[in-house]
Amino acid sequence: MSKDPLLQPYQLKHLTLKNRIMITSHEPAYPEDGMPKDRYRAYHEIRAKAGVAMTMTAGSAAVSRNSPPVFNNILAYKDEVVPWVKRLTDACHDHGCAVMIQLTHLGRRTHWNKGDWLPAVAPSHEREAAHRAFPKQVEDWDIDRIIQDYADAAERMKEGGMDGIELQAYGHLMDQFWSPVTNTLDGPYGGSLENRMRFSLQVIDAVRKRVGDEFILGIRFTADEDLEGGITPEEGLEIARRLKATGQIDFLNVIRGHIDTDPGLTDVIPVQGMRNAPHLDFAGTIRKEIGLPTFHAAKIPDVATARHAIAEGLLDMVGMTRAHMADPLLVKKIAEKREDDIRPCVGATYCLDRIYQAGDALCIHNPATGRELTMPHEIPPADTRKKVVIVGAGPAGMEAARVAAERGHDVTVFEAAPDAGGQVRLTAQSERRREMISIIDWRMDQCLARDVRFRFNTFAEADDVEGENPDVVIVATGGLPHTEVLTEGNDLVVSAWDIIAGDVKPGKRVLVYDDAGDHPALQAAEIIANSGAHVEIMTPDRSFAPDVMAMNLVPYMRALQDKDVRFTVTYRLKAAQKSGNMIKAVVGTDYSKFTEEREFDQIVVNHGTVPMDELYFELKPNSKNLGSVSQEALIFGRPQPLDANPGGDYALYRIGDAVSARNTHAAIYDALRLMKEI
Ligand SMILES: Cc1cc2nc3c(=O)[nH]c(=O)nc-3n(C[C@H](O)[C@H](O)[C@H](O)COP(=O)(O)O)c2cc1C
Ligand code: SF4
Repeated sequence: MSKDPLLQPYQLKHLTLKNRIMITSHEPAYPEDGMPKDRYRAYHEIRAKAGVAMTMTAGSAAVSRNSPPVFNNILAYKDEVVPWVKRLTDACHDHGCAVMIQLTHLGRRTHWNKGDWLPAVAPSHEREAAHRAFPKQVEDWDIDRIIQDYADAAERMKEGGMDGIELQAYGHLMDQFWSPVTNTLDGPYGGSLENRMRFSLQVIDAVRKRVGDEFILGIRFTADEDLEGGITPEEGLEIARRLKATGQIDFLNVIRGHIDTDPGLTDVIPVQGMRNAPHLDFAGTIRKEIGLPTFHAAKIPDVATARHAIAEGLLDMVGMTRAHMADPLLVKKIAEKREDDIRPCVGATYCLDRIYQAGDALCIHNPATGRELTMPHEIPPADTRKKVVIVGAGPAGMEAARVAAERGHDVTVFEAAPDAGGQVRLTAQSERRREMISIIDWRMDQCLARDVRFRFNTFAEADDVEGENPDVVIVATGGLPHTEVLTEGNDLVVSAWDIIAGDVKPGKRVLVYDDAGDHPALQAAEIIANSGAHVEIMTPDRSFAPDVMAMNLVPYMRALQDKDVRFTVTYRLKAAQKSGNMIKAVVGTDYSKFTEEREFDQIVVNHGTVPMDELYFELKPNSKNLGSVSQEALIFGRPQPLDANPGGDYALYRIGDAVSARNTHAAIYDALRLMKEI
């Protein structure tokens, strides 16, 4: 029996949890028609199989029709959910993993223009900044119905085989009643804490009556809103005491903070560059004061911190949620003493940002997450060992090398730079984004453990590649910054990457022209602003840095807004002209023929990259497939055909930004889905 504190069982009422690691509730936006179907089940099942003790499924599963999903949540108000839930719970139970589900009413944290177009309801008319609906103030008959909706949904979950449920009370209807900031009601549901808690206690009562004493019922709640006029830590403790006093609550899942704005949400769920485990000690205080089983998650990405949380008695169950998105096999690797093999969560929060942009949750560097039905988390060996040559050791090339090595192939990687990493290495030069380098370091370790040969400082020519007598050649040479966007004066501008790499020093009065909307513009702007310069960030788009997305934007704004920085949307940089020591920027707009001239001493352009593809085109005539990729084979997981040029010597493929400017996830996914069939 292991002595690892993380691997000790935990008794939650009648339920034995086999270790101390859980996945907290998170909606990856995988439901189909609001139901947790095959994709959903496969996502949880593999994590259950790998040993996580409990998975809290869904996130914010909707109990009522007037709580329409904001990011494709499960519709717990529909009876048809029961058989889908049953298939999900059965699959996880087969691996000894407990399964629960989070239920909620979103209150004002949604929009009336979704679902059945019912008005959002809340205990005040004030809107939430993030979701923007002005709600109807709840009436008595709304309250009565919603209480019944909770009980009905809980009953459905019990019928579906769930071990329990978690009520959501941070930023949603329950704590909208609790918080003086969001509750302006008079009468039985407003005013005193007793009144403000009345709704939640009535829900707990109704649910408990419906599901009986055995079913597990917990609550995930904010015990400190960290917001002016909001729930204080003292009031949070009092709320916890009153919840405990009901005798009906089996666990507390502690949250600190508020989620009504992007910055608030980002402090609750910290992104890369922010402190690890910022609320862990606070959760420990709640556990100590209240004495109920206590769970918590908030950027505990590494096993050492998780172990500390349990060993020091801060928590009973530690949530490692994004850590499990990055590596579903996390618990298995701990149990097998292979912690070094765990694919690290780098806090990029691409996963969470995507769901708020109507996407599904995808991990920046594990493309098999959420694609369990088609992509492997463990790479099976190939039947025949091949000689694989990869050119370029950026994220695409490194993933190709890792997967090829796991397939058992003989792998050589050429890289022109002295180190692996490409754009990711440059990105990681910023202190705030340092965690990104683990995307490369983890792959490097995996490759070195499998004898992949690296030839750094080698700008591979076609002869070098062909001299290796390869069976397969992968061109992952990336791209070069694309700055040729002006009608005149392209030679007067520098690229965002020039600034990030430190090749060009920041000017004093700088225009950062962002015609791509992704990270490099803001990253360069941050470096320039930090040097004390005046910076104007201009984009022709109608919104600002759309591909950076909500939570990732927060640290940038915090780093930029207190400096000499201005943000300009809907203006297009047309041309640049020399003007003495300065550069004259000719600025127009897509909306009219308006133009104006402005002076800067430096213009920085972010406009993606152009592929470095010379080598690929040189190799193409000698390849068996003439570089072609069958998209059908790629998508449906079949080997690539090689009959285009029977006289050719090797199969040739191009991946990542060497094809077109995309992002890290796209580059790594390119590599995984191609290489898993080679
Ligand atoms: C894609 C995604 C969706 C989430 N949705 C919810 C949700 O609906 N309800 C909830 O309580 N927490 C949600 N969370 C927050 C997680 O439960 C967890 O608190 C957060 O990810 C911090 O823990 P971690 O650092 O271990 O990932 C979500 C997280 C992610 C990554
Ligand atoms: S996208 Fe980033 S934060 Fe999300 S799971 Fe992957 S590595 Fe972690």
